[in-house]
Amino acid sequence: MVAISASAPGKIILFGEHAVVYGQPAIAAPLTTVQVTAAAEPGPPGSGLVIHAADLGQTVVAAQAAPDDPFFDALVHPAQLVLEHLRAPMPDLRLTVRSTIPVASGLGSGAALAAAIMRALAAALGAPLSDEALNPLVYEVEKRHHGTPSGIDNTVIVYARPVYFVRGTAPQTFSVARPFTLLVADSGQSSPTRLTVADVRRLHDADPPRLDALFARIGEIARAARRAIEAGTLDSLGPLMDENHALLRELTVSSDLLDRLCQTARDAGARGAKLSGGGRGGTIIALVDEPDAAPVTAALRQAGAVRVLSTRIQPSP
Ligand code: MEV
Repeated sequence: MVAISASAPGKIILFGEHAVVYGQPAIAAPLTTVQVTAAAEPGPPGSGLVIHAADLGQTVVAAQAAPDDPFFDALVHPAQLVLEHLRAPMPDLRLTVRSTIPVASGLGSGAALAAAIMRALAAALGAPLSDEALNPLVYEVEKRHHGTPSGIDNTVIVYARPVYFVRGTAPQTFSVARPFTLLVADSGQSSPTRLTVADVRRLHDADPPRLDALFARIGEIARAARRAIEAGTLDSLGPLMDENHALLRELTVSSDLLDRLCQTARDAGARGAKLSGGGRGGTIIALVDEPDAAPVTAALRQAGAVRVLSTRIQPSP
């Protein structure tokens, strides 16, 4: 067994969150400026699998962790799934994980943690996982976190490239005719995706025709956005983001702060803005021309964003 290191990025949803749970298409991209890394090194004989979450100062011995242990789902469950998948016994191994992805911010911290742990563990056991093999394993972890996840978060994080995603189908890549810049502003309000997904489910169950119509319009927006990205007609992307945000408000997953951050970004020169991910907290994204990135960032900070990251969506190599 050799020392190994593996990583996984964060993610942003560009278009289509929530509606994607109901079969509509969505577009997501990796956020590579934040990531989880997992380093595996051999442990002394008999030590078992020890997982050390360096940022949290937590150490868990996998064989001793109970399923109601607070770190079981995040740290131990991913490792168990890999051992079951490989039909491998508990190894004597120390895994150290570090993350720069803010937790419960809609940036995919749970899926990235699982992906990095699984990659490092499998590689240390001499059986590295392909992305195709890893993706369904991370989806299992997402189910534990989110209940009814669409699978978009694990997919974009595992493949680490922009994806056009329809639940239950293989992820599609698409071409990016002209690169564009998104600012990712963290509201600082943590909001578990599980709760907003459950609330949208309740709304849907109370009035399926109304909700299905909202989801269908969000799906059309995602399709139009893909066409615009592929054609390089970026002028239409901003208004599509604004409309997608308005529809997410109707789904009750925005908040005063998220609305304010989106409006602040538009007022400061962004071409469009929307919440990204589960909503009610977490992040917003804003489409900016490069010269506007600094003033929009400053305005977002002034309006209460705790951090603002920038990411460029590029043509695939
Ligand atoms: C969360 O990043 C995206 C949601 O659509 C949930 C999901 O797709 O599983 C809100």
